[in-house]
Amino acid sequence: MPSIPRDKPIDSSLAFLADGYEFVRKRCERFGSDIFETRLLGQRFYCVRGEDAARMFYEPDRFTRNGALPGFVLRLLQDQGSVATLDAEAHRRRKAMFMALMTPGRLDAMARLAAEGLRARARLWPERGPVRLHDEFRAVLGQAVLAWAGVRLDAAEADRFTRRIGAMIDHAGTAGPSNWLARMRRWGAEATLRCLIEDVRAGRATPPEDSAAHAIAWHRDLNGELLTPGIGAVEMLNILRPTVAIARFVTFAVLALHRHPESRERLATDDAYLHAFVQEVRRLAPFFPAVAGIARRPFTWRDHQFLKGDRFILDLYGTDRDVRAWDDPESFRPERFLAWLGNSFTMIPQGGGDHHSNHRCAGEWLTIAVMESMLRVLTRDIDYDVPPQKLGVSTAALPALPRSGLVVAVRAVR
Ligand code: HEM
Repeated sequence: MPSIPRDKPIDSSLAFLADGYEFVRKRCERFGSDIFETRLLGQRFYCVRGEDAARMFYEPDRFTRNGALPGFVLRLLQDQGSVATLDAEAHRRRKAMFMALMTPGRLDAMARLAAEGLRARARLWPERGPVRLHDEFRAVLGQAVLAWAGVRLDAAEADRFTRRIGAMIDHAGTAGPSNWLARMRRWGAEATLRCLIEDVRAGRATPPEDSAAHAIAWHRDLNGELLTPGIGAVEMLNILRPTVAIARFVTFAVLALHRHPESRERLATDDAYLHAFVQEVRRLAPFFPAVAGIARRPFTWRDHQFLKGDRFILDLYGTDRDVRAWDDPESFRPERFLAWLGNSFTMIPQGGGDHHSNHRCAGEWLTIAVMESMLRVLTRDIDYDVPPQKLGVSTAALPALPRSGLVVAVRAVR
């Protein structure tokens, strides 16, 4: 059995920042191995990629996410006590609450709110001159998800709230002052949501029974206790923040459409193709680079023995582009999804395995539904030009975005 290759530097944190999304893939290719050992922020990690590694990583209850991410990322993307930091039965119970919000009817409701919001906002664009789509999509999704989740804010408050959430997403991969500022904004957003949970329980607010605000305010954990208002606020953010983040995927979808203008007509008329296009955008767009976990007990993988406490990073970005699973993986080819049979371990932009029994993204179906509905509006109802601009995407910046944020000049909205 060959030994596990080791990354040379004593600590590879700077290389991680420089290589970004390519960090794991580059080294796996250099070592000719699906696993290597490295040190990040002073700690040893095993980095893994590929379908087999994803199956190993998503073996139910094998890894905890608790403590696996550096603190500065954790405080922007999750928090102590959130569903992501729970394990085993406690996790499954809390996760069931999230998944119960993802019924076809509720997904449809969110997709409709996003489409209507986009159409309404777009009507203002022809007079405004060129608009930066990423900012516009965020504003639309912020308003839509607040309404969907049962959070009543007026338009100006909703805008401020959405900007706070946006800062958390933008600075999750940074350290230092910009990260601290984003954390301060997070506290502001959490304070609003803590009050909401308290108001629901005191009968001062009555969100619809099928809304996230209702479900979270009245959820009881394994011990039969309600969540503390603080944890309730964190779980509300776990719905609001990533839904605003779908703006990034929709921006990448518009970029793909710009590069493949021949698909526009088919997207507007063929729902199967629309779905395939969205899948291909999710597969290729650089978004969540990797997930981290700490082994909860010893196990063996590919004849190597691992110990309780060993830290792992699973490369999502590299697995989605693995040549062993995807024919010509770097090419944007939505058609590959038309006859795709599905595989929870090769297509993992939002994590892998089973949604209910594992940590796979609770909002994956919502992401797909929202992307489809917004792309439908963009291709059917909005005529726009893409003026010359910096459309390059750096895979060193986390999370990535086309440099210009995708500026368009809108001619007409139907
Ligand atoms: C978890 C990605 C949208 C809610 C995750 C994970 C990833 C991810 C990679 C971690 C999986 C793991 O630890 O194994 C994304 C991306 C999104 C997105 C790229 C695109 C915008 C959403 C949406 C929601 C959501 C729209 C809610 C409406 C969650 C929750 C978890 C999670 C609650 C924790 C699940 C658990 O620990 O069981 N997401 N997500 N995400 N996501 Fe998303």
